[in-house]
Amino acid sequence: MTQPTLRIAPSILSANFARLGEEVRAIEAAGADLVHFDVMDNHYVPNLTIGPLVCEAIRPHVKIGIDVHLMVEPVDAIIPLFAKAGANLITFHPEASRHVDRSLAMIHDLGCKAGLVLNPATPITWIDHVMDKLDMILLMSVNPGFGGQKFIASTLPKLRLVRARIDAHVAAGGQPIWLEVDGGVKVDNIGEIVAAGADTCVAGSAVFGAPDADGGYKGVMQALRHAAQQNC
Ligand code: DX5
Ligand code: ZN
Repeated sequence: MTQPTLRIAPSILSANFARLGEEVRAIEAAGADLVHFDVMDNHYVPNLTIGPLVCEAIRPHVKIGIDVHLMVEPVDAIIPLFAKAGANLITFHPEASRHVDRSLAMIHDLGCKAGLVLNPATPITWIDHVMDKLDMILLMSVNPGFGGQKFIASTLPKLRLVRARIDAHVAAGGQPIWLEVDGGVKVDNIGEIVAAGADTCVAGSAVFGAPDADGGYKGVMQALRHAAQQNC
């Protein structure tokens, strides 16, 4: 199994929305690789968060990529708005799109990287016929809708399966595909998550809830990277 570099993507769902510019600058300074941007529509998921206007507002505050996770249904109408707002990577849940291949093509045509998100109970067969069109596969390790939930352990064998699929795809000459995990990632479980094959970890409450006494955002980012290496 390949062991790629670990990317950490703090989810701003757990940030202080009253001072979001400052928050994203702080996570970039603390060593974040991506800003994870959770979009919820109170339809696909039972919560309502932020849209393209907020993406556009934070864009000038950081150089790192913005990883937009669409928890919306349908997906196609909102994709161009996020591309225009400065998203670098756009992922969506395949069961929320009527035409998955078309939605992926739309994201690419707009100059962004594209990915599919699989919920804990969503089978990995969704990726079967679009592997060549994916820059990222995101496995949800909680049911989408809220930050601060507990990591669902069955994500670990699922990660191993998808990691094997990606490695076989790349070995056969396919493009690289990032494998991201989202939900309940903490210092005490990131080691086994990375060992199971994730190369990109979202962490919301773990990062934004980090106590100042433990070094704040910088301290927790270092602790996450350190813990990830320990268990590889
Ligand atoms: C859940 C979101 C996650 C969430 C992660 O629907 O997609 O990105 O913010 O938060 P934590 O890390 O607190 O589980
Ligand atoms: Zn997310």
